[in-house]
Amino acid sequence: MKLRNRHLLLLWMLVCSGTTEAIEPISTSIAVGVAAALTGFLATHQNIFCYIRECCRPEWISFNRTGLQTDLENKLFGQHIASRIILKAVNGFMSNDNPKKPLVLSLHGWTGTGKNFVSKLIAENIYKEGMDSSFVHVFTSTLHFPHSSQNATYKSQLQQWIKGNVSNCERSMFIFDEMDKMHPGLIDSIKPYLDYYDKLDGVSYRKSMFIFLSNAGGESIIETALNFWIAGRDREEIELKDLEKALSLSVFNNDKSGFFHTSLIDKHLVDFFVPFLPLEQKHVEQCVMAEMKARELEPDRDVAEKVAGDLHYFPKSDRAFSTKGCKAIQSKLDYYL
Ligand SMILES: Nc1ncnc2c1ncn2[C@@H]1O[C@H](COP(=O)(O)OP(=O)(O)OP(=O)(O)O)[C@@H](O)[C@H]1O
Ligand SMILES: *[C@@H]1O[C@H](CO)[C@@H](O)[C@H](O)[C@H]1NC(C)=O
Ligand SMILES: *[C@@H]1O[C@H](CO)[C@@H](O)[C@H](O)[C@H]1NC(C)=O
Ligand SMILES: *[C@@H]1O[C@H](CO)[C@@H](O)[C@H](O)[C@H]1NC(C)=O
Ligand SMILES: [Mg+2]
Repeated sequence: MKLRNRHLLLLWMLVCSGTTEAIEPISTSIAVGVAAALTGFLATHQNIFCYIRECCRPEWISFNRTGLQTDLENKLFGQHIASRIILKAVNGFMSNDNPKKPLVLSLHGWTGTGKNFVSKLIAENIYKEGMDSSFVHVFTSTLHFPHSSQNATYKSQLQQWIKGNVSNCERSMFIFDEMDKMHPGLIDSIKPYLDYYDKLDGVSYRKSMFIFLSNAGGESIIETALNFWIAGRDREEIELKDLEKALSLSVFNNDKSGFFHTSLIDKHLVDFFVPFLPLEQKHVEQCVMAEMKARELEPDRDVAEKVAGDLHYFPKSDRAFSTKGCKAIQSKLDYYL
């Protein structure tokens, strides 16, 4: 087969070059050499293609554990529990060559506390192209699936997308934003992909990752955080077990939460529930400082304090937690500069 290719190539070269010189013995051997090189080139054209364009290969997809760890330590503020769970979960999953099921994380917490931000950090430490990778897919309920009357259409569309994308690349990542606003039927439709199946219709989903983002349970997390605050206890003393019960109760028993209607939870398809704590003023200040650095401005603590101090906090008397977390600091910063 290889030899035939080589002959075909030689013929092609002769035709293309339009010379008869190559017929002479010496030229012929040179031509054969060139042709051999070309054959090699064609055989590795896939490699060259993947050199310039993203492919589903380790050059483009490989987990950087230290990268994720340093990012979580240096860039994510005030989320000691989430940070710990995520590092363990992602590290365990990515270093397992034969996972039994896809990794399913469910991130919960008040607005502006870093759920999308963490998803981005995870993507950046797995995919060279980060969130721009063609293997990272973000679905936002209100954007992609806005009309509940069309749930049947969405359902088949979403299943096709997941199947098509995982067939292309088993290391695919799916982020479902505003999961609490997603139609329960639609959540049910992705359930098979999250389960312990070797293969479904010949496709294995076991190496893909699903991340659900929602505000579900946010209030109960706040309640716990506030109790610690009022008792004068250190935020870092809050442990997962302090939040777990309240979180699962509120996620289960909330009629407004899509999770309630599904068996995602009782079938244990979610591997980790990750709580995000409400942010204090000092964390908002850190966010402002980071934003100044990102804009290549000289970080200025006075400005950071002013920006953070200007936001709303609750409860009004204590000003414990930021109402919008670290959201909306960008425009505030513009105002102060
Ligand atoms: N804990 C945090 N550490 C560092 N930066 C943060 C944190 N939380 C939020 N930010 C900053 O604020 C921006 C908005 O946060 P993000 O979009 O992650 O919030 P969210 O939790 O997804 O909120 P929502 O529930 O409203 O979608 C981020 O892009 C990031 O710059
Ligand atoms: C992993 O991340 C660290 C810290 O960000 C970085 O220094 C290192 O170069 C990265 N490694 C790879 C292989 O990209
Ligand atoms: C779509 O939603 C309606 C009501 O909201 C429900 O009766 C129907 O079963 C759903 N269809 C699918 C395919 O989930
Ligand atoms: C992959 O998902 C995207 C949505 O993120 C969709 O547009 C695309 O058609 C899917 N690809 C395949 C092959 O199904
Ligand atoms: Mg978000």
